[in-house]
Amino acid sequence: MASPSRSGAFQEAVDRRVERFTESISFDRRLYRQDVAGSIAHAQMLAERGLLTVDEANAIERTLREIEGELDRNEFPIRIELEDIHMHIEHALIERLGDVGRKLHTGRSRNDQVSTDFRLWVRDALDRIDARLLDLQRAFVGRCDGDEGIVLPAYTHLQRAQPVLAAHYWLAYCEKFERDRERVADCRRRTNRSSLGAAAVAGTSIDIDRHATAARLGFEQVSANSLDISSDRDFAVESVFVLSLIALHLSTWAEEWILWSTAEYEFLELPNAFCTGSSIMPQKINPDVLELTRGKTARVIGDLQTLLVLIKALPLAYNRDLQEDKPAVFDAFDTVEATLELAVPIVAASRLRTDRIEARLDRGFLDATTLMEHLIKRGTPQRTAHHAVGSLVRAAMQQGKRLQDLDLERFREVEPTLGPEVFEVLGVRRAVEAFVSYGSTAPVQVAAQVRSWKDRLASGATERRTPAGVS
Ligand code: ARG
Repeated sequence: MASPSRSGAFQEAVDRRVERFTESISFDRRLYRQDVAGSIAHAQMLAERGLLTVDEANAIERTLREIEGELDRNEFPIRIELEDIHMHIEHALIERLGDVGRKLHTGRSRNDQVSTDFRLWVRDALDRIDARLLDLQRAFVGRCDGDEGIVLPAYTHLQRAQPVLAAHYWLAYCEKFERDRERVADCRRRTNRSSLGAAAVAGTSIDIDRHATAARLGFEQVSANSLDISSDRDFAVESVFVLSLIALHLSTWAEEWILWSTAEYEFLELPNAFCTGSSIMPQKINPDVLELTRGKTARVIGDLQTLLVLIKALPLAYNRDLQEDKPAVFDAFDTVEATLELAVPIVAASRLRTDRIEARLDRGFLDATTLMEHLIKRGTPQRTAHHAVGSLVRAAMQQGKRLQDLDLERFREVEPTLGPEVFEVLGVRRAVEAFVSYGSTAPVQVAAQVRSWKDRLASGATERRTPAGVS
C-alpha cells in the first residue's frame, strides 16, 4: 500500500528500512483523539467556506468518529508504512469515503496538523497535572488540622536551626506547588494557540477561516505567523521545564521523607501500602516509592535536555527532527503524573511520630536565635548578642545542658541587665510563640495561612480556562 504522502513524483517504492527508521506511529498513536478533533474542526470550517458540502463534512465527521471508536477499542490496524497517526486516520477515511475523504487535507499540511494535535494534547495534559497538584496541596493542607501544635526542627545545612510548626512545613510545600500551578497556567496560555491553517510553512492560497477552527478547538489565540508557528516547539520545552520543577519539588519532599522515616530521625511512619520489602532482610520496610520519586526526576530533567538539544539551531521551519519531541514530552508527563498520583496518598496517610520528635526537640539549641533576638530587643547590638548567645551555647554544650538549664548568673555574665524574664523565651515551645513576623512560623500567622489555604483550595482557585478536553 502506497503511503498517501508519496506523490506522483516518486518512481521507486520506499525502502523498508526507511519506513522503520522514520515512523512515529509507535508513539504518536496517542494523539488520535486530538487528530480526530482537529480534522472535524477543519472539515466543518471547509464546509462553512463552501469548500466541502455540508453532507461531505458530516460524512467526514461521522467516519472520523467511527475510526476514533476503533482506536479506543484497539480495533484499528497499525501499519508502519503509514508512518504516523495522521496518515493512518486519513488513509482509513479515504478507504471508507473515497473522494470525499481525499478532500479533507485541503488547506492544511501535516506540519500544522502535528503541531495542532500536539498542542491540544499538551493542553489537556497540563490540566491533568494541575488537578493532581491541587490534590496534593489539599493533602498537605489536610495534614494541618491533625498535626496542630506539633513542633518540628527546621534545618539549614541539614543542621538543626529553628523550631517550626508542622503546619508551617506542610504549607511550605503548598507554596512550592502553587508556583508550579502558576507556571502550568502560564505555559497553558502559550500552548493554547492555534497553528492550524499555517499549513506547510507559508499559509495557503485556499480561503480557509483559521479563527473558526481555533474557536472550535478551544484555542484562545490564532498564531499570526505561519513560518514561526509551524516550527514552534517552545510550548513543549516549556511544559517539560514546568514538569522538571515539579519533579524537583517532589524530589526534595521525597528525600526529606526518606530521611525522616529512618531509625536515625524517627520522625515519620510511612503507610505500609506504599512501602516495599527486601528479598533477604525480613525486617526491611523500604520507602521505594519515595526513592523512585527522587530517581525519576532524572528522567524528567533528561527529557528537558533532549528537547533543548533537539531544537537547538534548527533552521526554520518544519524539520523532521521535530518528530523526536513527542517521546520526551510524553515520558515527562507520564512520569510526573504517576509520581503525583502516589504522592497524594502518601502525604495523606503518613503519620508524624510525635513522641520521638518531642523527645529530641531540645537537641540543637533551636531557641538560640530567639534568645539572641530577646537581647536585641532589649538594646544589645545584633553582633554583640550573636556572640554572647554563642558563648552561652558553648557553655551549655560543655555541661550537656539546654539553654534553659543554665543559671541566671551565667546569663548575667554575658548581659548583666538580664533578669529571670529571660527564661520566658527559652525552650522550644516558647521560642515558637515568640515569632511575630509575617510569613513566619508564629502560631497566629500559621493559623491565618491555614485558613487562607483552605479557602483557596476549596474553590480549586487558579484562574479558569477555556473549555478543555478533547481527550
Ligand atoms: N510524522 C511526522 C511528525 O510527526 C509528520 C510530519 C510530516 N511533515 C513532513 N514534512 N514530513 O513530525
